[in-house]
Amino acid sequence: MAGRDLKPLFYPKSVAVIGASRTPGKIGYEILRNILEYGYKGKVYPVNPKAEEILGLKSYPNVLSIPDKVDMAVIAVPAKIVPSVLEECGKKGVKAVVVISSGFKEIGNTALEEQIVNIARKHSMRLLGPNIFGLYYAPPKLNATFGPKDVLPGSIAFISQSGALGIALMGWTILEEIGLSAVVSVGNKADIDDADLLDFFSEDEHTKVILIYMEGVRRAKEFMMVAKKVAMVKPVIVIKAGRSEKGVKAIASHTGSLAGSDLIYSAAFKQCGILRASNIEEAFDWARALAQLPPIPKRDDAVIITNGGGLGVMATDACQEYGIKLLEVPEDLIAEFRKYMPPFGSPYNPVDLTGQATEKEYYGAIATALNDERVGIVIMLYCETAVANPMKVAEALLKARKEAKTDKPIVSAMIGGEETEKAIRELNRNGIPAYPVAERAISSLAALKKWMEWRTRRGAG
Ligand code: COA
Repeated sequence: MAGRDLKPLFYPKSVAVIGASRTPGKIGYEILRNILEYGYKGKVYPVNPKAEEILGLKSYPNVLSIPDKVDMAVIAVPAKIVPSVLEECGKKGVKAVVVISSGFKEIGNTALEEQIVNIARKHSMRLLGPNIFGLYYAPPKLNATFGPKDVLPGSIAFISQSGALGIALMGWTILEEIGLSAVVSVGNKADIDDADLLDFFSEDEHTKVILIYMEGVRRAKEFMMVAKKVAMVKPVIVIKAGRSEKGVKAIASHTGSLAGSDLIYSAAFKQCGILRASNIEEAFDWARALAQLPPIPKRDDAVIITNGGGLGVMATDACQEYGIKLLEVPEDLIAEFRKYMPPFGSPYNPVDLTGQATEKEYYGAIATALNDERVGIVIMLYCETAVANPMKVAEALLKARKEAKTDKPIVSAMIGGEETEKAIRELNRNGIPAYPVAERAISSLAALKKWMEWRTRRGAG
C-alpha cells in the first residue's frame, strides 16, 4: 500500500525546485542543474522569489504561481522557511516533497520536524527527508540530487541514511561501473522510511537488488514485516553502521537515530532474510552479483578453473569458509579436463590449467564445466601472464557462457595490472561478476546461496 503512494515521488510528471538558486555551487542551483542535465523528461519549475530566470527556465516567486499541476517539489530553503513553503505545496496539491534542508531533529529541533510532518500529513503529501541530498531514479531519468550527475542506470536500488557517504558512493559507483536503479537519501526519515521504500522497490520492475546503508530503524516492527515479504522476492542487503558502542554514540549525533543493540539487529536481519554486509565494498560486491547471477541450480557443486595453483588454493579455502561445495570431479570429467592442460596440470578441483594456459585452454575447460550437468557453479580464476591476454581470457569465458546449454552462476577473479582491470570491467559489463581477488568473488556467490537457502526454508519453490 505504502509503496503505491510513493509513485508521485518516483514518477512525477512535473517537478518544482523550491529554493533553486541563481548562484552556481549553491545546493538549489546544483539540484536544478542535475535534473536538467541528466535528462529528466517531465516539466521542471524553478521557484525563487528573487529570480526571473534560472538555467534558462522561467522562475516563479512561489509554487502557487506555477500555472500547471506540480506532482513533486524539491525543497532547498533554510529550515525555518520550510513550514511555510510546505503549506503552499499543500495548497497547490503537490503529492510528494523532498526536503533537502538540514536543521531539524538531527540538531535537536524535534518540534520543527514534527511541524513539517504534520503539514505534510494534513495535505496528504509524502515527505522524503529532511536533511538529505535528494533522490535519483533511473526510469524517468530523474537526478534530483546535488550528488554526481552521471549516475549509471542499472538495477540496484541504494537507500542511504548518510548524506555525504551516499553522495560519495554515487560517485564511486560511476567509477566502478555499478548500475543503479535508484538512490534515495532518507536522512531523518521523518515520514518516508525504509519500510515504505522496501515496499516500493519490491514491486519495482527496474530494481533487482535493494541495498540499504542504515544507522537506525524507524518502525522496527513494520520494517521486519515488510523486509520478510520483500526478501522472498528480491535480495535485500544492509550495511548497518554502529556496531561498536562508540559507533552507536556517533549515530545519535549524526541523524538523531536510536541505534539499539547490534546483536538485536543481527538477529532481526537474519530472521528477515536480510543479507548483512560488514562494509561498503562487500555490500556492492554482493549487490552486483545478486543483480547479475542466475539462480544456483539444485546440483550446486562448484568447479574452480585457474591458471595459478596458489590462487586456486586460496579460492578453495574461501569456498570452505563460505560454504560453497566443490565438486569431486568424476573420472570421465577428469579425462575431459586433461585435454586442456599439459601433463603437469591438475584436472581435479581446482582445475589447474597451469601458467602456460592460453585463452584456448580456458575456453575448452570452461565450456566442459558449463555443459556438464554435475557442475552447478563455475569459478574462473586468472593470474596475468604473457601467454594469456586477460581480455582474450574474458572473451573466452563470455563465448563459452553464450554457447552453453544452461545458464549457471559464473563468478570470476582476475589478478594483474591495467589490462586485467579492463578485462574485469568487460566481464562486469556483460553480466559476469568479476573481482580483483578470489575471496570477493566467492563471498558474493555465498551471498546468493544464503539468500536462496533462506527463501527455500521459507517455502519458496
Ligand atoms: N521560496 C523559494 N526560494 C526562496 C525562498 C522561498 N520562500 N526564500 C529564499 N529563496 C531562495 C533564496 O533567495 C536563494 O536563492 P539565491 O541564491 O538565488 O538568492 C535560495 O532560495 C536558497 O536560499 P538561501 O537562503 O540562499 O539558502 P542556502 O542556499 O544558503 O541554504 C539550504 C539552503 C537548504 C541548502 C541550507 O539551509 C541547508 O539546509 N543546507 C544543508 C543541506 C544538507 O546538507 N542536507 C543534507 C545533505 S546529506
